[in-house]
Amino acid sequence: MSTSPERPTVIVTGASSGIGRELARAFALDGAEVHAVSRPEGRGAEVARATSAEVGRAGAVTHHPADLASLAATREVARRLARDLPRVDALMLNAGAYLARFRATEEGFERTFALNHLSPFLLTHHLTGALGASAAPRIVVTSSGAHAMAGTIDLERAASGERYGAWRAYAWSKAANVLFAREAARRAPHPRLRAYAYHPGFVASRFGAGGGVSQAAFRFAQRLFGRTSVQGADTGHWLATESPAPEPNGGYFQDRGAKRPAAPGRNLAAAAELWRRSEAWVALEPELRWPRPEEPGAAAGAAS
Ligand SMILES: NC(=O)c1ccc[n+]([C@@H]2O[C@H](COP(=O)([O-])OP(=O)(O)OC[C@H]3O[C@@H](n4cnc5c(N)ncnc54)[C@H](OP(=O)(O)O)[C@@H]3O)[C@@H](O)[C@H]2O)c1
Repeated sequence: MSTSPERPTVIVTGASSGIGRELARAFALDGAEVHAVSRPEGRGAEVARATSAEVGRAGAVTHHPADLASLAATREVARRLARDLPRVDALMLNAGAYLARFRATEEGFERTFALNHLSPFLLTHHLTGALGASAAPRIVVTSSGAHAMAGTIDLERAASGERYGAWRAYAWSKAANVLFAREAARRAPHPRLRAYAYHPGFVASRFGAGGGVSQAAFRFAQRLFGRTSVQGADTGHWLATESPAPEPNGGYFQDRGAKRPAAPGRNLAAAAELWRRSEAWVALEPELRWPRPEEPGAAAGAAS
């Protein structure tokens, strides 16, 4: 695998369905080389082939199988991508799920938190060098308006899943996405790096297909009120491609506009604490650590 110098290189996680599939398609239509990550047992390979055929370019989308709820699998695919891609222009951290019932990952973390927050955190650190090779690197995380329901995030409970509540776990993970983008912009080791979180709207995707009693009603509401995945992907694609880069760096967006996040997404102390703890939870390799904003090397560009 090698990147073409003239084509933008984009990584999209969770590109086998819904919003991620449409993100991959939009970038492929732009002429980008798209690297899609989703689970080995899913439809990722088939969808990558179908999207490449649709845009009329063999290999426009390449599928990389990995269960991103596993930190070991995330690390493995991240190392492979970092080794093979000399440059990454946009890192679209989109894979995510709502899980009706508690499940622990192989590393012992609550699965929603591992998939929706810890995996993108780890992936980002491994791809920092490749992002630094881009003239306009962007990190875009698909968060959710559900972050407003997070209240105060209990980080220990979020990570362990103790006294699990599915919506609370999901809201905490999506607030973590907003805080991650803020702190990434503050710590960015490359001055050109932009980091954003966005709400795609209520989208009629496969989201929520994981079961649970209330799921029938949820899916009915999706059919009645949901927007399409194409509409859901629009702001993410815009954040990754718009020039000049949307402001504020580190901000939260919806429908191509900056939006003030709800209180759980504005807590700067929580953002710094989440970052610090996440470094320990993912057992981050010391050489991949991003400097704290007050340390030399941080670009200090976040929304205030
Ligand atoms: N739909 C909404 O209304 C809505 C609203 C706000 C935010 N969001 C956010 O939007 C993002 C995309 O969701 P969507 O609506 O497009 O749902 P979706 O259709 O269910 O897509 C989720 C994607 O994530 C991948 N994924 C799930 N678990 C994975 C794992 N363990 N490892 C690797 N990939 C995994 C899935 O691929 P495989 O199953 O093939 O692995 C799929 O490609 C999520 O972060 C979600 O929180 C959605």
